[in-house]
Amino acid sequence: MTKIILKTVKELNEWKLTNQKDISFVPSMGNLHLGHKELIREAKKLKENLVVLSIFINPLQFNDKEDLRKYPKTITKDIELAFAAGVDAIFVPYEEEIFPTDKKKIKYQKASENLSKTLCGMHRKGHFDGVCTVVYRLINIVKPSVIFLGEKDWQQLLIIKEMVEKLKIKVAIKSINTQRDIDGVPFSSRNNHLLKNDREQLRLFSAELFHTKQIFNQTKNISLKQIIKRLKEKEIKIEYLEHVNAFNLKRSTSQVNITMLAGAIICGDTRLIDHVFLMKRNPIIAIDGPAGSGKSTVTKLIAKKLKFIFLDTGAMYRALSWYLLKEKINYENRKELNSFLSNISIKFKSASGSKQTVIINNHDVTDKIRTKEISSIVSSVASIKEVREFLVTEQRKIGEEGGIVAEGRDIGSKVFPNAELKIFLTASMNERAKRRKNQLEEMGHGLIDFENLKNEIQQRDFDDSNRKISPLVKAEDAIEIISDGYTINQVVEKILEIYLETIPKELHL
Ligand code: CDP
Repeated sequence: MTKIILKTVKELNEWKLTNQKDISFVPSMGNLHLGHKELIREAKKLKENLVVLSIFINPLQFNDKEDLRKYPKTITKDIELAFAAGVDAIFVPYEEEIFPTDKKKIKYQKASENLSKTLCGMHRKGHFDGVCTVVYRLINIVKPSVIFLGEKDWQQLLIIKEMVEKLKIKVAIKSINTQRDIDGVPFSSRNNHLLKNDREQLRLFSAELFHTKQIFNQTKNISLKQIIKRLKEKEIKIEYLEHVNAFNLKRSTSQVNITMLAGAIICGDTRLIDHVFLMKRNPIIAIDGPAGSGKSTVTKLIAKKLKFIFLDTGAMYRALSWYLLKEKINYENRKELNSFLSNISIKFKSASGSKQTVIINNHDVTDKIRTKEISSIVSSVASIKEVREFLVTEQRKIGEEGGIVAEGRDIGSKVFPNAELKIFLTASMNERAKRRKNQLEEMGHGLIDFENLKNEIQQRDFDDSNRKISPLVKAEDAIEIISDGYTINQVVEKILEIYLETIPKELHL
């Protein structure tokens, strides 16, 4: 295919019309470096899409006019590099295309207040509003199916993700890890401004961040004061240095698992940013939802793919119910229940394939807990305060070090409220009953009456959602997935995609 340069919206539309393919979009301000090259490489992985790179220096995002005047402009070289890297078209719009003289055509965007009031946003007033306005305009012109952004500008990435979600724009966002030169310095167009000594300062700054990360990995602690002291000793001019929650950018607390140590420094006349991500324990994925939504199967497959522990908390409530029945415990009697609970041990063992055996006090109950009898009492057992406290403690112990995918009714809301990813998986009642019927029949439970089963599930939904303690609810920050019409693999892929795009790439195991 011929390589093409598009300068107007009209040309772009005509080109799109002749090709009729989805677009993978890499927005840029030109002066391309290896970071951009990597973005293009990532974009090209979606083989069925065409890759469009845009080069547009957005005047709105420069609060300093001198910075805009000086911003490196290397269009001829950029075009060469972009085509060599394999883009299908380069969109180099005239300024009037992005900002038509008819001002009504421009929809100025405001960046999320919470995300933009800190870090760079605090020091570059209006910067992120400018970024959002132009990115929104570019998305509307290019109409890509996927947009590729670098994690070097993590705050910008979060802000754009938030805008896309808020405005319900149908575009996926994929990001790549910060690309670094051999001396550890992140690639940036502004690096071109640096004299040798300035570059050395930047190198020392990045090295300090990575040194801190190394210390953190051993001690799980950092001291901002110490870092600032060390930087000052090296005569590095700090604009800001902050340790924040990596997802909401609020100041970090001891509760937060994934944080970012981020800063901006002034080297010569140039302002540069860098950061590292810090993680105390491995990530946790919480998957909640009602019966028959496909949670178990999906959770198992995700755990296998990520090599995480799979935790079926429902099996724990079921195992406990089975044992209460077997031992004929009167669980209405709290004293009897408490003494029973103090002697309980529930263990999971991985058996062949994706099967997991459930063992309660040396009884293998894997198949015994899926009966109608257990299903009919499990919700009332699960509504007892002492039972929940006991099992929630056990579940937290299993998840202490993270690296776990847990499924249940209260995982995101109660057991692991700090989980990095929370999914609420559901499906219509008919679909859920249909799936459960197939599952039970496959397990050899004989022919199952559909209406009866549906009533049973409805009753359990009602009990689970209306109990006093930890009812089944969608956690505020959970992402809802309605699985009707999707295969298990599609749901798994979707969740993995969300997970991979949530956790900073620097932390991927
Ligand atoms: O497999 P199914 O969807 O039927 O349910 P399960 O995951 O085996 O869980 C059985 C029952 O345990 C649920 O209906 C809830 O009453 C209870 N449960 C709970 O209360 N909290 C959890 N985290 C997991 C299960």
